[in-house]
Amino acid sequence: MAVKTIGVVGCGLMGSGIAQVCAGAGLTTWVCEVDQGALDRGMARIRKFLDDGVAKGKVTAEDRDKVLGNLKGTTKLDALAPCELVIEAAVENLETKRQVFSALDQAVAPDAVLSSNTSSLSITEIAAHTKRPERVVGLHFFNPVPIMKLVEIIRALTTSDAAFAKAQEFVTQIGKTPVLCKDTPGFVVNRLLVPYLLDAVRVLETGIASKEDIDNGMKLGCGHPMGPLTLLDFVGLDTTYYIANIMFEEFKEPRFAAPPLLKRMVLAGHLGRKSGRGFYDYSR
Ligand code: 3HC
Repeated sequence: MAVKTIGVVGCGLMGSGIAQVCAGAGLTTWVCEVDQGALDRGMARIRKFLDDGVAKGKVTAEDRDKVLGNLKGTTKLDALAPCELVIEAAVENLETKRQVFSALDQAVAPDAVLSSNTSSLSITEIAAHTKRPERVVGLHFFNPVPIMKLVEIIRALTTSDAAFAKAQEFVTQIGKTPVLCKDTPGFVVNRLLVPYLLDAVRVLETGIASKEDIDNGMKLGCGHPMGPLTLLDFVGLDTTYYIANIMFEEFKEPRFAAPPLLKRMVLAGHLGRKSGRGFYDYSR
């Protein structure tokens, strides 16, 4: 049975994209944020993306209005009670997620599936904080969510066949392509992507080439849409540093160790696009 009502917890960069995609697929989409200000900013981000899409001729004004009409904002997790599936896209902090999952466990129907968009935390550990560990999965989206076609579906040690199948149906329903993965640090994409991004910083750090040449090398030589240092600025240096540390902690392999330059850039607040400065300058 197709999902009709969905909840998204968190309306930041990822949560707003996820909510937009779900609403665009015709689902009644409840979006929950910690306060009205954060909710308004998230909804404004969705509206801007849709308005830009109309201006580019990619979306009709009618479709934009339909998507916006399918979105319901709230600051109370209890409002997610009618949701058959909830996607948590709050901050990457286990304690926050523990609180959110524990509250969701109380709020939604016992047969609803709970999921997390985490890119680094263990789904099995998150599931263990609920009374329904067999109905918890990972749904890992990619930035920018409305454009990137992939969703990784992560199976915790406890996930049931039925919940895993429901997650796969849902991902297809919203027009994305699923990749199935066991619950391991970095799943499939970040397991491959993060060492590559860290290596690009090491190449820069050791003076082998300039940042522009490193980026052009991978862009023009391998057909990547962005070079690795541009992609690091796009994803956020702090986010990548955080994921790398979790992967290094788990595997203890040098390829997952954050290079000193990355750590120092994070300490300096050079986080990429979001802070106006990373490997490149975005202040103007
Ligand atoms: N509404 C509708 N469509 C839109 C749109 C809008 N507001 N804005 C853009 N689009 C469409 C464009 O029309 C275009 O479609 P087309 O290919 O059919 O013509 C497509 O989206 C790309 O948009 P643009 O042409 O404007 O932009 P670029 O060509 O510069 O691409 C990009 C931008 C998609 C971000 C591209 O540079 C890219 O793919 N970069 C890599 C992103 C990436 O790797 N993301 C994953 C990061 S890792 C991650 O998220 C995991 C986490 O755990 C770290």
